[in-house]
Amino acid sequence: MMRIPLSQRASRMGSAIFAEVASWKAEAHALGKNVIDLGIGSPDLPPSQRVREVLDSCIRADDSYAYPLSRGSASFRQTVCSWYQYRFNVELDAEREVLALMGSQDGLAHLPTAIADPGDIALIPDPGYPVYLAGIEMAGLTPYFMPLTESGGYLPDFTSIPQDVARRAKLMILNYPSNPLSAIADRSFYEDAVRFAARWEILIVHDAAYSEMAFDGFRPMSILEIPGAKEVAVEFHSLSKSFHMAGCRIGFAVGNADAVHALQVLKANIDYGVFQPVQEAGITALTEDMEGKPSVAAHYQHRRDLFIQALAKEGWELPMPKATMFVWAPIPQGWTSRQISREMLLQTGVAVIPGDAFGKEGEGYVRMALVQSNEQLTEAAARIGRFVRENRI
Ligand SMILES: Cc1ncc(COP(=O)(O)O)c(C=O)c1O
Repeated sequence: MMRIPLSQRASRMGSAIFAEVASWKAEAHALGKNVIDLGIGSPDLPPSQRVREVLDSCIRADDSYAYPLSRGSASFRQTVCSWYQYRFNVELDAEREVLALMGSQDGLAHLPTAIADPGDIALIPDPGYPVYLAGIEMAGLTPYFMPLTESGGYLPDFTSIPQDVARRAKLMILNYPSNPLSAIADRSFYEDAVRFAARWEILIVHDAAYSEMAFDGFRPMSILEIPGAKEVAVEFHSLSKSFHMAGCRIGFAVGNADAVHALQVLKANIDYGVFQPVQEAGITALTEDMEGKPSVAAHYQHRRDLFIQALAKEGWELPMPKATMFVWAPIPQGWTSRQISREMLLQTGVAVIPGDAFGKEGEGYVRMALVQSNEQLTEAAARIGRFVRENRI
């Protein structure tokens, strides 16, 4: 039979480590382990009752089944504008500065193809969410990795980017609060980023998927709050984490009108937009938020407290993440991220992701996602504690 190998570009996408972790999970199951999966960051709760009711009634309506407007309905885009005003005090033009997406991943994967050409450079964070590199490979761009280290506050150092790289760079991806690092950025960082981007004419692509999942009263800002940011930045939001709609694909891009337009032009050749009932569900979720419905943050904050405290009791002290559903944990000397992740899974059944799945700077860390119940997280911490003692870590 004719073999169809992956193209060179496709084979450079994604990280083989996720497949490896899946095979370790199968091994653990075969060993009779009851696996507690702290691997993939998929929310384990449903959207609100009202969101589901709206979805239900729209699905029953006869007029929900035509091709939707590919850039998003006027009412969805208008609701995004109202939410931006409410949440960030930023004014957006629903016609030129807002685009509905089938999840933020849709936009993040396609934007590089829409605005850059083979040979151009894209600045991306290392560690970073894997779709950034996939989108850059798809577009045939050259990645330049910006190392994010603990000592650097997990922020890129713009001064260390060589001038010839900055000159050839067309876009720079930033992500705060960040996956996998759960790091956050403050206003002065965004000001520096906007200044750097304006100097070198680089489009900032800010992935704000976790903007609503922050703790202890901290409210992440939008990069568009910085004066002049719309000249140089586009921001991506997801309803997956903020409103537990991960499988009900919807997100949006806002900001720089040229970038929004370019993405819209590309996507008009690829898809027909978000299913109308899903857009209506999205409108409901954003509206409920503006009406003051408590956010998902309290839920994850409680889990974070419980898990970090349970691990501390077991003798593993970790810093409290200020945002996201992830714990980015440094591992003890003498292990690689993969070794410890595999051994821990096979011995205890607790699945985590080796940090190097997100880039080479992730070596020395594992990522644990708070996507299980309180009971499961407590049990996972107890098992990890036993693992640490039995292996004399
Ligand atoms: C940092 C980050 N950006 C984007 C996404 C994609 O989210 P969406 O479901 O909106 O495509 C994820 C999903 O895990 C993520 O962690």
